[in-house]
Amino acid sequence: MTRVAIVTGSSRGLGKAIAIRLAKDGVKVVVNYHSSRQQAEEIVREIVAGGGEAVAIQASVTDEEGVRKLVAETEGYFEQSVDIIINNASGPQPELSLKEVTWQDYLDQLHFTVKAPLLLTKTVMEKMKHNQWGRIITIGSEVVEIGNAEFSNYVTAKSAVIGMTRSWATELGGFGITVNTVHPGFIPVERHGEVTEESAQGYISGVPLNRLGKPEDIAAQVAFLCRDEAGFITGQNIQVNGGNTFGV
Ligand SMILES: NC(=O)c1ccc[n+]([C@@H]2O[C@H](COP(=O)([O-])OP(=O)(O)OC[C@H]3O[C@@H](n4cnc5c(N)ncnc54)[C@H](OP(=O)(O)O)[C@@H]3O)[C@@H](O)[C@H]2O)c1
Repeated sequence: MTRVAIVTGSSRGLGKAIAIRLAKDGVKVVVNYHSSRQQAEEIVREIVAGGGEAVAIQASVTDEEGVRKLVAETEGYFEQSVDIIINNASGPQPELSLKEVTWQDYLDQLHFTVKAPLLLTKTVMEKMKHNQWGRIITIGSEVVEIGNAEFSNYVTAKSAVIGMTRSWATELGGFGITVNTVHPGFIPVERHGEVTEESAQGYISGVPLNRLGKPEDIAAQVAFLCRDEAGFITGQNIQVNGGNTFGV
């Protein structure tokens, strides 16, 4: 049976590459977006032209109503329940010193890293349990390993994903649902403007594999975790960063 995946925030960046890759693997894909409708529809056209199945659905994943709408429209369109959730969406990530940062700045990040995955998982998990199959994959970040200064709002929020992943994996494992997090290194996407191997040399010099990552590197790992053959992997935090950090 063809699986259905929601990739949150897949109108651009890493989410776009994940959506395209999953569709190539035969998964029916929801290209979720917040405001980039044209880009999302263009990705759907690209997927369909390549023989895949996809639909663009607008919804804010950080609020209850948005998540309810996203899941209902997905089930309505594909006439099937959701098998795979990729928690990828993120908002602005301001770099703030401890002097500047406020509790609201922390909450702004936690809304994406914890609230959205929680709302989505709670909305889809009963049907996953019934089907005895599910995949919940969250996109973390290597910043958790690095502990960047003046970025504690984002680093803290991404760190919470580690415990969340392990706890959910334990709770949902008996139902055939795996829960994992993929932690990318620095991967230039549209929002970073032009980044070259030369301009990023400072970063690359610390990367054992000696290059920048590509969105496709992340998409390949996510796609693998979605497959049946990855069904014995759960609760893991997987670094996809050329060896820039080694994980715990
Ligand atoms: N790129 C990197 O170097 C890097 C490194 C480590 C981790 N990550 C993580 O990887 C993930 C993707 O990063 P990215 O760089 O690809 O991000 P990005 O280019 O900024 O894209 C963010 C996506 O999230 C969507 N979005 C924003 N607010 C939303 C909301 N309320 N509801 C639903 N969707 C929303 C955006 O939709 P619109 O286009 O409609 O606004 C867009 O599709 C994030 O979790 C990020 O923290 C990225």
